[in-house]
Amino acid sequence: MSYPYQLTSLEAYQKAYQKSVENPEAFWAEIAENFIWHRKWDEVLNWNFNEPKIEWFKGGKLNITENCLDRWAESQPETPAIIWEANEPGEAGRIITYKELHFKVSQFAHVLKNNGAKKGDRICIYMPMVPELAIAVLACARIGAIHSVVFGGFSAQSISDRIQDAQCNIVVTADGAFRGNKNIPLKSVIDEALINCPSVNSVIVLTRTNVAVSMLKGRDFWWEDEIKKVEAQGNPICNAAVMDAEDTLFVLYTSGSTGKPKGVVHTCAGYMIWTNYSFVNVFQYQKGQVHFCTADIGWVTGHSYIIYGPLSAGSTTLMFEGIPTYPDAGRFWEIIEKYKVDILYTAPTAIRSLMSFGTDPIKGKNLSSLKVLGTVGEPINEEAWHWYDENIGKKNCPIVDTWWQTETGGVLISNLAGVTKAKPSFATLPLPGIQPVLVDENGNIIEGNEVSGNLCIKFPWPGMLRTTYGDHERCRQTYFSTYKGMYFTGDGCLRDKDGDYRITGRVDDVLNVSGHRIGTAEVENAINMHTGVVESAVVGYPHDIKGLGIYAYVIFNGVHIDEAHTKKDICETVTRIIGAIAKPDKIQFVTGLPKTRSGKIMRRILRKIAEGELNNLGDTSTLLDPAVVEEIIKSRSPL
Ligand code: PRX
Repeated sequence: MSYPYQLTSLEAYQKAYQKSVENPEAFWAEIAENFIWHRKWDEVLNWNFNEPKIEWFKGGKLNITENCLDRWAESQPETPAIIWEANEPGEAGRIITYKELHFKVSQFAHVLKNNGAKKGDRICIYMPMVPELAIAVLACARIGAIHSVVFGGFSAQSISDRIQDAQCNIVVTADGAFRGNKNIPLKSVIDEALINCPSVNSVIVLTRTNVAVSMLKGRDFWWEDEIKKVEAQGNPICNAAVMDAEDTLFVLYTSGSTGKPKGVVHTCAGYMIWTNYSFVNVFQYQKGQVHFCTADIGWVTGHSYIIYGPLSAGSTTLMFEGIPTYPDAGRFWEIIEKYKVDILYTAPTAIRSLMSFGTDPIKGKNLSSLKVLGTVGEPINEEAWHWYDENIGKKNCPIVDTWWQTETGGVLISNLAGVTKAKPSFATLPLPGIQPVLVDENGNIIEGNEVSGNLCIKFPWPGMLRTTYGDHERCRQTYFSTYKGMYFTGDGCLRDKDGDYRITGRVDDVLNVSGHRIGTAEVENAINMHTGVVESAVVGYPHDIKGLGIYAYVIFNGVHIDEAHTKKDICETVTRIIGAIAKPDKIQFVTGLPKTRSGKIMRRILRKIAEGELNNLGDTSTLLDPAVVEEIIKSRSPL
């Protein structure tokens, strides 16, 4: 057995679960003993969901990078920590051992310090999927600076909002990023973003694509030059900052039903323990295996299951710069064969996209190294589940359907690979420490099986968010006020006759597009920025590949040269304001929107129309102007 807390049988899981509920403090204290601490905690847990106040291992002192790097650099220095595969199959990959990663993180931690970074500072990271991204993240953690990674697909405006909200003083970026056949000009996006960000004094720029970039004297510095300076200083090892368990490790912005994205705050000890524990147990990771999580580090999945979970377990994590369909739809399978990948963790949207190419791209690829498959980010339909099982796992690899959120830090509900049973399209059972409940609209807990409701969690777990950056009240309102005394996930869920959980999707105004969270209000605001747009309403509709597509109803009073052109302009506007991921898939021009007498848009009706369920619109009598609905149906474009 690789890890003392790895649950390798159904009985072990059941026993652990029971203990975690009956005596959570003793349960987590025992697990926490497996990590390196400068000082042990005073109290395991102190909580109150009304404020909310959640503290785990308060008074404990540690640094997450000593747990992710130092201990392995010492005990297994030559083990690959990161295997990196470039976007172009012809470009040589890189293998970085624990000893090397430890050294590189230390070096870059000095770069940050030389640029004025101090414990508690916020540092924005906007980078391609190269090892230096992981190095930058870990270097922040090394010195106790708070990283805020922004996905490379977000617009200048989105970055600017995030930098301003967190008041970052340093940005780490690259000249550009390769993604498939695209070359994304990261530095020029950053330049535009920084026009409105006076808090930023230094920008550190890695060379990746070799495009021409502007470099401002006194503000912009090349990564490579900064490293040379540290070498000239004699490459001293950077001692890890001693952090309190409850100090902030990072902020990650995510969309909600209302307003701008909020900065979800995770802390040093609880997050570390949760990502490690869930990684080891859900995937049943065995020492020496290669773990390939296909997410981008710009999302929480990358934070938790490319960087912190795998590295804190001393595992080998595979990082891929490109996309699954470049140069062709066989790329994942080639990578698996090349590096003898043991665990593949990807999203249903990627599976569905690859499925659409048929099985030819898999032919001749040796996938026999695979032991465990995982999915995350959105509900997986049964067809995709079976395709994954048959064609990739060859019916020989358990599939873990892992349900979790940016806010939860790591997986909360999932089968444990080969240990607890899998069920297509079900996340199945809660991990030890997780107490899920289903509640009805009035907040009553729904007991028993074969029931459905809104998914809440009634007891804290170490990896949960502590606050939303700079606005604790927003955290309380968003997650802890809908149902008193509980964390509300925003997801609908059913519990079947066996007590297994199946997540049915968001019940709030958040869309899950290709596994990415996008708030309808955010997209509407962006559409409304277009000069000719009066008002808009955005809903999701079922999309074969993306899970949900974005359907926008737009009231337009400008002059169309032609409608198709205006639609493109609107998409371009959304790309400018948020990023290409939020571009509507369908735009329908309408003359009015269905509203209640109090002015609230009836999304339920718009959703049905978008889905094509025209005969079953439900009660429209409460509408201010029911005729609007008829008109919308008439002008609806076929999907
Ligand atoms: O609706 C759920 C869906 O993704 C949401 C969380 O999105 P985000 O914070 O971006 O994190 C995604 C990666 C953890 C959830 O509220 N979701 C995530 N995993 C699953 C899922 N829906 C169904 N099944 C899953 N396995």
